[in-house]
Amino acid sequence: MSSLHHRHLAVSPDWLALYYKRPLEITHGEGRHVWDADGRRYLDFFGGILTTMTAHALPEVTKAVAEQAGRIIHSSTLYLNRPMVELAERVATLSGIPDARVFFTTSGTEANDTALLLATTYRGSNQVLAMRNSYHGRSFSAVGITGNNAWSPTSLSPLQTLYVHGGVRTRGPYEHLGDAEFIKACVADLEDLLGHTRAPAALIAEPIQGVGGFTSPPDGLYAAFRRVLDRHGVLWISDEVQTGWGRTGEHFWGWQAHGENGPPDILTFAKGIGNGMSIGGVVARAEVMNCLDANSISTFGGSPVTMAAGLANLSYLLEHDLQGNARRVGGLLIERLRAIGAGSSCVREVRGRGLMIGIELVRPGTDEANPEAAAAVLEAAREGGLLIGKGGGHNTSVLRIAPPLSLTIPEAEEGAEILAEALRSVA
Ligand SMILES: Cc1ncc(COP(=O)(O)O)c(C=O)c1O
Repeated sequence: MSSLHHRHLAVSPDWLALYYKRPLEITHGEGRHVWDADGRRYLDFFGGILTTMTAHALPEVTKAVAEQAGRIIHSSTLYLNRPMVELAERVATLSGIPDARVFFTTSGTEANDTALLLATTYRGSNQVLAMRNSYHGRSFSAVGITGNNAWSPTSLSPLQTLYVHGGVRTRGPYEHLGDAEFIKACVADLEDLLGHTRAPAALIAEPIQGVGGFTSPPDGLYAAFRRVLDRHGVLWISDEVQTGWGRTGEHFWGWQAHGENGPPDILTFAKGIGNGMSIGGVVARAEVMNCLDANSISTFGGSPVTMAAGLANLSYLLEHDLQGNARRVGGLLIERLRAIGAGSSCVREVRGRGLMIGIELVRPGTDEANPEAAAAVLEAAREGGLLIGKGGGHNTSVLRIAPPLSLTIPEAEEGAEILAEALRSVA
C-alpha cells in the first residue's frame, strides 16, 4: 500500500470509496489525458465523474481563473458580482425556462436541496415523487429522494418520498413492453400513485440516470408525465447535473428528449459547467424562485473565480460546438462499443447517447448483474492506460464512459480498443 493510501485510510471516512486495488493519485492533466504520480499517462474517459467537461487544463479556463484570482477571489452575494450576473444571464437564456431566475450553489447536492426547498414551499407540501434507481446527492434531503439504497444510507428524511417507475428501460416490471406500452404503463402507475397521495410538491428526475448506470426511459416519458403532473399542479424538476451542457449530443439538456410539453419548472445543474471548479445551480421561473419569504444565501455560491471559470468554459463549449462533437464522436464510439459488446458473453447491453455511454455486465448466459466483472474490467482498462467509471444500483455492474466533450475520433478509437482488450481479458 502506498504511504498516501495509508494516510488516506487513516483520516478519511470508511464510506469514501476509492477506485482500484492500488488507488491512483492523479497529479496533472491535459486535454483528454491525465498522469499519475509515477508519470504514467492515461486516456480519461470519466473526467472526474463527468466534471472535466471540455478538457483538462484548458488554457481558456485556467487563464480566466488565474486572472480573476489575481483581481478578487471572494466578495459574497452581498455585493454586485459581474461574472455571476453574466453567467446567470447566459444560463437563464440557455435553460429554455421563461422568466428564469438563477441561483448558484457549490454542488449538485445543494442545487437539488434548493430545488426541493423551492418546490415544497411553493406547493405547501413535503411529498416528493422521485424515480426508482435515482441519485440526487449526499445531503440529508438529497439522500431522502435517492431511489438507490447503495447511495442512501438512511430512510430518515424531512420529505415523504414516493418512487415512480420509468427510469430504467430494460429491467423491472415493464421491461418486456414496447416503448409506447412502457410509457403507458408508467403513466398509469403515476396516475394511480397520484390518486393515493395528498398533493405532492414535485417530481424530480434525471433524464438519464447517472450513478444508476446511464439508464433512461424511452424518449417522451417525461413529456407524458408532464401532462399528468400539470393536471395535478405538481412541479417537474429536471436534475441535469450529469446530462446538461450538450453531453447527450442530440440535446443541450436531457429534458429536451422529452420536450414536447416545454421545459421543466425547475432545472438543476452542476459538474461540467465549472470544468472542475465547484459550481452548482438552480433555474426556475421567477414565480417559483421567489416563493421563499425568508432570506437565503450561499456564501461560496457564485464566487467570482468559479463564475469566471464557468463563463470561459461555457464560451469554449459553445464556440467549438462540443455538443455536436459529443453527437458525432459519441455516435461512433457507441457503435464501436456495441460491436465489441456483441462479441462478449459478459455484456448485456450497451446504452446511452452522446458521450454518456453505459456497458452493463452480467454473468455469462444469465441476466444476473456481474459487479466482479465490472471491477475487473475497470482494473484491466487502467492497466491498459484508460480510466473509466462504474455505476448501476447496488450491484455496481455497469461500466460508465463519459470523456471530456472535446474527445477526438482517434482517442475514441484508442479507448475502445483498450476496453475491448480489457473485456476480453476478463471474459
Ligand atoms: C444526477 C446527480 N445529481 C446530483 C448529484 C450531486 O452532485 P454533487 O456531488 O456535486 O453534490 C450528482 C453527483 O453525482 C448526480 O449525478
